[in-house]
Amino acid sequence: MTERTLVLIKPDGVQRGLTGEILRRIEAKGYAIAELKKLQASTEQLAAHYAEHEGKPFYQPLVDFMLSGPVVAAILEGDRVIEGFRSLAGTTDPTTAAPGTIRGDLGRDWGEKVQKNLVHGSDSVESAEREISIWF
Ligand code: PPS
Repeated sequence: MTERTLVLIKPDGVQRGLTGEILRRIEAKGYAIAELKKLQASTEQLAAHYAEHEGKPFYQPLVDFMLSGPVVAAILEGDRVIEGFRSLAGTTDPTTAAPGTIRGDLGRDWGEKVQKNLVHGSDSVESAEREISIWF
């Protein structure tokens, strides 16, 4: 079933010059990039995007990190792209994410309280549509 998902290349990915490499991996996997833009996130967008995590210990450091520089937002399209992109991204912690994944190959712990893990991908059809409306 053709789906859409929202991908964000987080400020660490943009700042490290990994935008092209991450988009290359997405295209090499076979997913279509339907929309793409670089922007500075607003506090309002991040409050909406991370609403379900408000109150968790990582919430404020995560929001501050996401405000620290530009992000790249993309809408991907393809059959089972939600699951497929999350598999391509790897697990949350880049130190232990599997080699072969974006986080596993390109990420690491930088000794800071925030987890800089390069990318975000929606986790369900409902989240994808909600998140797409926040960023596009
Ligand atoms: S949870 O609690 O199981 O829902 O957490 P998880 O799904 O793994 O992560 C939700 C989002 O929070 C980010 N996250 C963190 N960011 C910074 N520091 C820490 N410690 C941290 N822990 C979780 C994680 O990357 C997810 O963000 P997105 O943007 O969705 O990838």
